[in-house]
Amino acid sequence: MTTPAQRCDEVVISGSGLWTPEHVVTNEELVIALNAYADRFNETYKAEIEAGEREPVMRSDPEFIHKASGIRQRHVYVKDGILDIDVMRPLIPERGEDELSHQAEIALAAARDALEHSGREAADIDAVIVSCAYTQRAYPAIAIEVQHALGIEGFGFDMLVACSAATFALHRAYEMVSSGTARAVLVINPELVSPQVNYRDRDSHFIFGDVATAVVIERGDTAVSEHQYRILGTRARTQYANTIRSNFGYMSHAYGGDPFAPDKLFHQEGRAVFRDVCPMAAEHIRGHLEQHELQPSNVRRWWLHQANLNMNQLIAKKLLGRVPEESEAPIVLDRYANTASAGSIIAFHLHNKDLQAGEQGVICSFGAGYSIGSLILEKR
Ligand code: COA
Repeated sequence: MTTPAQRCDEVVISGSGLWTPEHVVTNEELVIALNAYADRFNETYKAEIEAGEREPVMRSDPEFIHKASGIRQRHVYVKDGILDIDVMRPLIPERGEDELSHQAEIALAAARDALEHSGREAADIDAVIVSCAYTQRAYPAIAIEVQHALGIEGFGFDMLVACSAATFALHRAYEMVSSGTARAVLVINPELVSPQVNYRDRDSHFIFGDVATAVVIERGDTAVSEHQYRILGTRARTQYANTIRSNFGYMSHAYGGDPFAPDKLFHQEGRAVFRDVCPMAAEHIRGHLEQHELQPSNVRRWWLHQANLNMNQLIAKKLLGRVPEESEAPIVLDRYANTASAGSIIAFHLHNKDLQAGEQGVICSFGAGYSIGSLILEKR
């Protein structure tokens, strides 16, 4: 960082980036695999299941998935293995310590796209935050690996806040730029979530997809990009809940047992999450808008978390008194599924350029923790 620390009144999002994996898995493909696995398992253990000594594996249904969630397909980093009933996990080859890590690779793709959109290069960035639901290792930080690969000076660190990782990292970036500790911050969300999916569980096998997103946040007085969004404010809330968990981690080495048992992978009580989170998210957004003397009707675009279509419609309905048009609250989860923290950023990336100067939009995430994060933006 060459300039002295200088507080900044106007902080902007000056560009965003998206990396989408080339491989797609449809609901139908997932269901065929799970049902074949279930049929084989239930036949193999027929006697024990009938005696009540073992639970059967439940069959899935593509129509249920689409109706309950709005999801039709998901992109995955590696498709090999997911649909093989003897494997049912992505077969991702382990890389050596001298090679670029998988997560850094997808982070870099999104980061380069965001840098291009913001008209920035490595020398303009003072900090890198990699923020997502999982990092593939504890250290060295993926952010520092990405910083190194891009040739950025300054510092980088990783953050884990499940589905609110992107918004919470944008909050930190906003604070850094506004306090003058960084001129520009690169926030990256490499959501490599397919390895944590239990593809044998009908309740959750359809939920996640892989993606990477990135955002450049910088001083408004020196930003150069064509599309800039002033950050009017940020708001965060967390409230402990046990309804969404993933217990996999380094403690498995100490516990013994199966580090990949179903309770170590993603699992949730979907109904309870739906019931708890919708009112929390609506109240959170309403309160945040009120802080800025805005009403939901003032908001031109809702870039909402992408976990469940019915959830987004209910939250928007609580705020607007009606189901929003697709153009007001764009949906990407039909194609991408739940991409953990990246969903609202994908929606922002794909649907922001048509806003007129002075129009406002809200980015909001909600998920495990529980955690809710929002940013109110205004097109410059
Ligand atoms: N195929 C067929 N039936 C299925 C099924 C599948 N893939 N998955 C579940 N079912 C069954 C259930 O077993 C249940 O059967 P039962 O009534 O006999 O017990 C029934 O369908 C309803 O299941 P339920 O889990 O209540 O469905 P739902 O309408 O709540 O939808 C979710 C499930 C996960 C799509 C929904 O709850 C959700 O998206 N919740 C929010 C999750 C979220 O945002 N999480 C954040 C993650 S980061």
